[in-house]
Amino acid sequence: ALLVEATRIAREFDYPAEQVRRGVAEYIRQADEGLAKENTTLSQIPTFVTAVPNGTEKGLYLAVDLGGTNFRVCSVQLHGDTTFSLTQSKIMIPRELMASGTSKDLFTFLARQIESFLRIHHNDHFEAHQRRRANNAAVEDLFDLGFTFSFPVRQFGINSGTLIRWTKGFNIPDAVGHDVCALLQSAIDDLNLPVRVAALVNDTVGTLMARSYTSPGKTGTLLGGIFGTGTNGAYLEKIEKITKLDSMKDVHYDKSTGEMIINAEWGSFDNQLSVLPDTIYDRQLDEESNNPGIQMFEKRVSGMFLGEILRRALLALHNDPQIGLFKPSETSKWGLDTSLLSLVEEDTAKHYPAVKAALKDHLKIENPSDEECEAVKILVHAIGKRAARLSAVPIAAVLIHTGKLQTDELVDVGVDGSLVEFYPNFEGYIRDALREVTEVGPAGEKKIRIGISKDGSGVGAALIALVASKDETLQN
Ligand code: BG6
Ligand code: GLC
Repeated sequence: ALLVEATRIAREFDYPAEQVRRGVAEYIRQADEGLAKENTTLSQIPTFVTAVPNGTEKGLYLAVDLGGTNFRVCSVQLHGDTTFSLTQSKIMIPRELMASGTSKDLFTFLARQIESFLRIHHNDHFEAHQRRRANNAAVEDLFDLGFTFSFPVRQFGINSGTLIRWTKGFNIPDAVGHDVCALLQSAIDDLNLPVRVAALVNDTVGTLMARSYTSPGKTGTLLGGIFGTGTNGAYLEKIEKITKLDSMKDVHYDKSTGEMIINAEWGSFDNQLSVLPDTIYDRQLDEESNNPGIQMFEKRVSGMFLGEILRRALLALHNDPQIGLFKPSETSKWGLDTSLLSLVEEDTAKHYPAVKAALKDHLKIENPSDEECEAVKILVHAIGKRAARLSAVPIAAVLIHTGKLQTDELVDVGVDGSLVEFYPNFEGYIRDALREVTEVGPAGEKKIRIGISKDGSGVGAALIALVASKDETLQN
């Protein structure tokens, strides 16, 4: 009975070709709407980055990255030959800073991490700066820093933008509506660090830039996607199609390429649920989240939520008196990260040793039976596969919408994030779904090159800091 019931629940997560197609059509509609006006479900944020790199860029830049599993500080040396060297330190953000402190607490914490990074890796530069300040000498030689801030921000230029809303596990209300570059700069200045926040970067934009730097092709990279704690994408759009820019006439940016990177914020695709699949587990998760009704696509796709969908499906099996599955922990809400799903999906060994270890570590379940493990595997597979097939929707939509599939050129897509990196065959399931979308067609799918842009956003942030630091009109 357990396996029959698990299979029945798993079927609720089916996402057939027909629905993928409907999703793509609706995505294209919402994408167009987002290019024309503000406050739409797909934000389609103009980033004012109007060119992708070609691999020849050079220089030393700092980057910080907030919004994935880890906070990182890095310095990136771009060698100008498609290669780079990266020095980095990463730490987990303390939970209390994510969801209960003030923005001052958070940004002071970030600035302190930058300080200790500089002391360890660039101490000469750091001390020379401190000496100059102590002698009231002119401040020079600042590091240009790219700030990867992976949340929806309304940008007012390459180095300023106000936070629209928090996503993923973050919730620090007093930051909403404020310029996050200014907040970081002021925390940096409080510590007298030799650093200028030169550019604001979404992780997807960084991923796109980094991929384009490291694997420049004839046509460059079209799309950068993150499938990790959250999910989102950025792509190159024709400026003439971004009609909402007409109301931002006073923002300076280089228009000569005719293109600009758009941060889609696709985590909020179809918040109205006109086409997204919706099971009882999705609904329960949303109701109990700290942002009900938004990030509805992300809540079905990304690592932060998949474990919670699983826990709720397991709870349904446990609560069924005919079934009697083990009791999944009540308290582990949001505590099941994607690594659990990846481990379970991967385990094909007899008696499921990895599933058992994962259940013990993540859910405190001792000695589950093989049948219970099998049931968990059935559910994990269904939830993970739905997430991957859903991920194909924005990818296919962007490719169709930008007309890139009509040409003979290869289309390059850079991706990053714990899900696409570690969940077995995530890309394979994406490709299956891409193939099924008529417009992409069997030949079309083959010319889509998808490549991991590992830790790409640090490099991407450096590249955007480079663009910004070369732009004299941005210097004060
Ligand atoms: C990292 C990028 O590699 O991937 C981050 O540098 C990004 O900017 C992250 O946010 C996404 O993955 P995850 O799984 O950490 O959310
Ligand atoms: C969330 C954020 C978005 C980010 C994505 C991936 O969706 O809103 O800005 O790109 O997570 O980290």
